[in-house]
Amino acid sequence: MDKFLINGPCKIKGKVSISGSKNASLPILAATLLFDKPVIIKNLPRVRDIDTMLNLLKSLGSKIILSKDRKTAKIINKKNMKTFASYSLVKTMRGSILVLGPLISKFHKSKTSLPGGCLIGARPVNYHLSALKKLGMEYKIRDGYILAKSNGRLKGKKINFPKISVGATENSIIAACLARGKTILKNCAVEPEIKDLTKFLSQAGANIKWSGRTCTIIGVNSLNQTSHTVMADRIEAGTFCVAATLAKGNLQIKNLDPNIINTEIELLKKVGAKIKTLDNKIFIKGPDKIKPIQNIKTKEFPGIPTDLQAQLMVLMCKSVGKSSITESIFENRFMHVAELQRLGAKINIQNNKALIEGNTKFIGAELMSSDLRASVALVLAAIVANGKSIVGRVYHLERGYENIENKLQKIGVKIKRLK
Ligand code: EPZ
Repeated sequence: MDKFLINGPCKIKGKVSISGSKNASLPILAATLLFDKPVIIKNLPRVRDIDTMLNLLKSLGSKIILSKDRKTAKIINKKNMKTFASYSLVKTMRGSILVLGPLISKFHKSKTSLPGGCLIGARPVNYHLSALKKLGMEYKIRDGYILAKSNGRLKGKKINFPKISVGATENSIIAACLARGKTILKNCAVEPEIKDLTKFLSQAGANIKWSGRTCTIIGVNSLNQTSHTVMADRIEAGTFCVAATLAKGNLQIKNLDPNIINTEIELLKKVGAKIKTLDNKIFIKGPDKIKPIQNIKTKEFPGIPTDLQAQLMVLMCKSVGKSSITESIFENRFMHVAELQRLGAKINIQNNKALIEGNTKFIGAELMSSDLRASVALVLAAIVANGKSIVGRVYHLERGYENIENKLQKIGVKIKRLK
C-alpha cells in the first residue's frame, strides 16, 4: 500500500485547479440508468470512487466510452439491463446504493447489496428504503441484499423525510423522474451536488421544481439525450482554502463558483485569512496568527460541511487559543483525532464535541489514514509539522482527491509517494 512522505513545514504558494465533484458525479452517473439514449458526462474527477461507479454501471450492462483523459464518459444503455448490484462492488463504495432508485424506477426490479457501514458511522439506508417504498417499491432484505420489485411504474407520492439525508434525497428524486404523476419530497437535503443532479435531469426533460427544502417532480415517460458538465468539488476547494490559511499560504484557487463555499469562506475570514473572490476564482492569503473559533458545528448545507470537519480541526490546533468543533452529522467522525494527537495535538473529546487546545507544535510522525477526509487532514497537519511525516493507506485519499500529490507539489508542498 502506497504512502506519502511529507517534509514539513512547507510554504504554500501558487495556483490550483479544482476538479469535478465526486459527490455530484456519483448520483449523476447512477441517474444515467434512467436513459434509453446516450448521455455524455463531462468533468468527472479521476478518482477511485468514480471508477467504482463506472464499473458498477458496466456490470449492469451500460456501454461506457471514456475520453483519453478519463474526464468525459459517454454512456449507452442496453434495452434490457441487468439489475444486480453486487456486494463486491457496493462494499468498496457506499454511494453505489444510488443505483437502487433508477433501477427500480426504470426496470421495476433490483437486487442491490446493502452498502454496510464504514468507519464514520453505521450509515443506514432506512430513509432511502422507506421513501422508495412509498413510491411503490416492494422489498425484502436477504443475505445482505435488498431484493426489490415494483408492480409496473412507480407512482408519485407525498414524502416527508424524517431527517435530512443527501443520499435518500438523491435516490428519491432520481426514482420519481419516471414515476407516474406528481411526487412532493419535503425536508430534502439541498447540497449543491443535489442541485447539479436536478440541473442534469431537467436538461434531459425531467420536470423538477425546487422551493426551499421541498422538491416537486412530475414524472415523464422517458428522458432525452443530453450532455452535462459536473460542478467543481467544493470539499476539495474548501480543503485547499484551509491549507492556505493553515500554512501562511498565498493561493489562487480556480474553476469553482465561490458562492457555493460562502459559509466556509466567511469562517476562514473570521480565522484571519484574507480572501477575495472573482468569477470562478478565489484568492486566499493565510494569516500570521490563526484566530480560534468557539463552537464550530457541522450542519447540513448551507452549514459547515461535515466533510471539512477534520481539516478545520487541524486548523484550530494551530490557532492561538482554545476552540471546539461539534460533529452533528455522523456518530463517529473523530477517527483523525488519535492520529493528530500522535503529531502533538491536544484534543479532548466529549461525546460529539472536540475541545481543542491551540498553539500546537506538530512534530512529524508516521500516520495512518482512516477515511477519505481524515486522511487529507493528516496531510495538512504534516505540511505544517516540523520534520518528516509518513501518511499510510493513501488509497483513502485517492478515493476522492484527484492527483492530490501533484497538486500539492505544484503549490510548494514537499511531498512524494513511497511505493
Ligand atoms: C453524503 O453521504 C456524502 N456522500 C458524504 O460524503 C457526506 O458526508 C454526507 O452526504 C453528508 O453531507 C456522497 O455524496 C457520496 P446522509 P450520505 O444520507 O448520503 C443518517 C465523503 O467524504 N442516515 O446525508 O450517506 C446518516 O447515517 C462522504 O465524500 C440515516 O440514518 O449522507 C448520517 O448520520 C462521506 N438513514 C446522516 O443521516 C438513511 O437512510 C446524514 O447522512 C440515510 C442517512
